[in-house]
Amino acid sequence: MRPRVLITQTLPASAIDRLKETCDPIFAPQVERSASGSLTEAVRDVEGIICLLTDRIDRELIGSADRLRIIANVAVGYNNIDMEAARAKGIMVTNTPDVLTDATADLTWALILAVTRRVVEADAYLRAGHFKRWDFNLLLGSGLTGKTLGIIGYGRIGRAVARRAAGFGVTVLYCGREEIAFRDDPPRVHVSRSDRQSSVPFTASARLDGLAAKRVPFITLLEQSDIVSIHVPLATATRHLIDRNALQRMHSSAYLINTSRGEIVDETVLAEFLQKNRLAGAGLDVFEREPEVNPALLGLQNAVLLPHIGSATHETRTAMAMLAVENVIDFFSGRRPRNAV
Ligand code: GLV
Repeated sequence: MRPRVLITQTLPASAIDRLKETCDPIFAPQVERSASGSLTEAVRDVEGIICLLTDRIDRELIGSADRLRIIANVAVGYNNIDMEAARAKGIMVTNTPDVLTDATADLTWALILAVTRRVVEADAYLRAGHFKRWDFNLLLGSGLTGKTLGIIGYGRIGRAVARRAAGFGVTVLYCGREEIAFRDDPPRVHVSRSDRQSSVPFTASARLDGLAAKRVPFITLLEQSDIVSIHVPLATATRHLIDRNALQRMHSSAYLINTSRGEIVDETVLAEFLQKNRLAGAGLDVFEREPEVNPALLGLQNAVLLPHIGSATHETRTAMAMLAVENVIDFFSGRRPRNAV
């Protein structure tokens, strides 16, 4: 019998057609399912799910899905899935890395440019009919040339953001998992595994995809960056990574950009800092309680707010859906899916 695969939301027709070659797609009813539990009903009789980051695949849902063997998330982040519950039942989980790297890095730069050059504010000014004459001092922003960009998390997307920095004449600092783990008490002499291989000391300059970038402790990155951009997954170690202590370390002229997950930033404290001009601005594509946005942020001109569109290009969304489908097909054909997590 062909495996039945629940598709929780509308996906490109090309991906559905490809799935149909070996599986039977079942479409979840287009209803509000967060509280109603309709997805719990729908998963009972399927062997696979293709879901999105807004689908909470929690312990209860996994517990009720007795035939389920694979959950293919159409996203690189998979914090919407209870991994422990999936592992306990031997359910395969896959994600869609790589294909969204460039789109997300591009949107990160769109936010950097929008907030530093006040693009959204300027557009609103013009539409409100205020553009009566050219003014030498109108809507002055902050230039990028010679500035420092601090990248928190130097995985695929962090590195793609770094690559684009060269074009803007921006210096890059970065830190990763180890610097985050030791953020309150950075070891004085520390050599990470990757550094040991290349004999590069913890804080020395390093090459990042051919780009000169300096690996620094977390606090140094906050203190020395004009723009801080977040590219780590949401996990216990990164929840509220950017809290009051972290924001206090940043310059009042600095900008914060977040295209990863909202819960990494304490939004209430961020809004307070932006309101008091203790931070110059923020560009946010993600929020703590999506789709809700903290009302304190909504009233701020120095925040550019987007509805989680990091990977939202036709090309990327099609590639993500296709990749999720290929993972499912691989799995049911007895091959290890290329993006098993
Ligand atoms: C988007 O946020 C993703 O994780 O793919």
